[in-house]
Amino acid sequence: MIFEAVASGGCRSYLIGCEETCAAALIDPELSQIDRYVALAAREGLRIRYLIDTHTHADHFSATQQLARQLDVPVVMHRSSPAPFVDLRLQGGELLVVGRLRLQALHTPGHTHDSMCLCVEERVFTGDTLLIGGTGRTDLPSGDAGALYDSLFESVLRLDPALKIFPAHEYKGRSHSTIGQELAENPRLQKRDRSAFIEMMQNLNLTMPTHVTEALRTNMSGGKTVAQMLSEAAATVPFMSLAALKACLESGKNELVALDVRERDAYEEGHIPGARSLPRGQLELRVNEELTDPTRRILAYCEIGRVSTLATATLRQMGFQGAVALDGGMKAWRDAGYAVKAGKDPS
Ligand SMILES: [Fe+2]
Repeated sequence: MIFEAVASGGCRSYLIGCEETCAAALIDPELSQIDRYVALAAREGLRIRYLIDTHTHADHFSATQQLARQLDVPVVMHRSSPAPFVDLRLQGGELLVVGRLRLQALHTPGHTHDSMCLCVEERVFTGDTLLIGGTGRTDLPSGDAGALYDSLFESVLRLDPALKIFPAHEYKGRSHSTIGQELAENPRLQKRDRSAFIEMMQNLNLTMPTHVTEALRTNMSGGKTVAQMLSEAAATVPFMSLAALKACLESGKNELVALDVRERDAYEEGHIPGARSLPRGQLELRVNEELTDPTRRILAYCEIGRVSTLATATLRQMGFQGAVALDGGMKAWRDAGYAVKAGKDPS
C-alpha cells in the first residue's frame, strides 16, 4: 500500500494507494492543501478515485467538494452526513474498493453523528473519534458523549490492538499510535465507566475552534469560504502596483480611471488624487452611468485590497476588460507617503 500523510496545522489528511492498480483514496483533505494532494498523487503515480471525509469538520475547511469537481471523482461520507454534495454515502460495515485495497467503514458517532473510521490492512483512520492521547470533543453540533463512549468501547477499541491508528488531528507531531497503546495510555480512555466518561467529556470546557461557523456552513452546504471567494476573484484579475499607479497618475496622460470602491465617507476622508468614488455596494447598479466607456482602463482600489479584488472581478465579468485591481490598498498608499486628497467626488 502506498501511504502519505499530509499535516496542515493540526489537521492530518491521508493519501492511500494501491501499488498494483495505482488507484487511491484521499481521506480528510483540507482546502489549503489541494495542490499538494494532487502533486503527491502524481508523484506517486496514483489516481485519486475517492475523496473521503470521516465526518463533518467544524474546525477546518474540507477540500472534498472542490477536488471532486477538479478530479471528477465522488465525495464519500457516512450516510447521515448533512452535506448535499456527497455522492457516495456509506453505512457502517460497508467496504470501499480502491484497486486491491478494501477500506471498511465503521460508523462511530460521538464526535459528530456522521463520524466514521476506516480500516484498511494494518491501519485504521480514526477521524476525530480517537486521537493520539485524546478523543474528539463532543460539545459541537451533533456531538454526543454517550455515543462516543459506545463507539470507542464497543467498536474501535475492540479492533486488533496491533492496528495502527491515524487520526484526523495531531498537534504534537506524532505520526500514529496503536489501538493497544491508546487503551493503555490514552488518559481519556481510562474512564471505563460510561457515565464517568460522559461526565468527563461534558466538563472539558474547551474553547470554540476558530472559524467554526464558517467551517460548518461551508462543509455542510458545499458553499464557499471567504478565502475561496477572494482567491477565485484574484485568479481572474490582473493587478497594478502602487508605484505603477502613482507613475500613471503623475504622467498626466489620463491613461486610467482610478475607482475608489470604499464607502463614500472613507473616500471623502482621503482618497488617491483624481480617483472617483463608486462604492462596491452600488457597483453593478451604477456602473452604466459611471463608466460609460467599457474599453477604458479602470483601476479599482479599497482600503486593503480585498473588496477591490472582488469589485474588479465583477467589472471584468460585466465586460470591462481593462479593469485591474490595486496590489495593496489605500492603507498601503498612505503608508508609502503618497499624496492623499480629502473631499467630495468632483463628478
Ligand atoms: Fe472534527
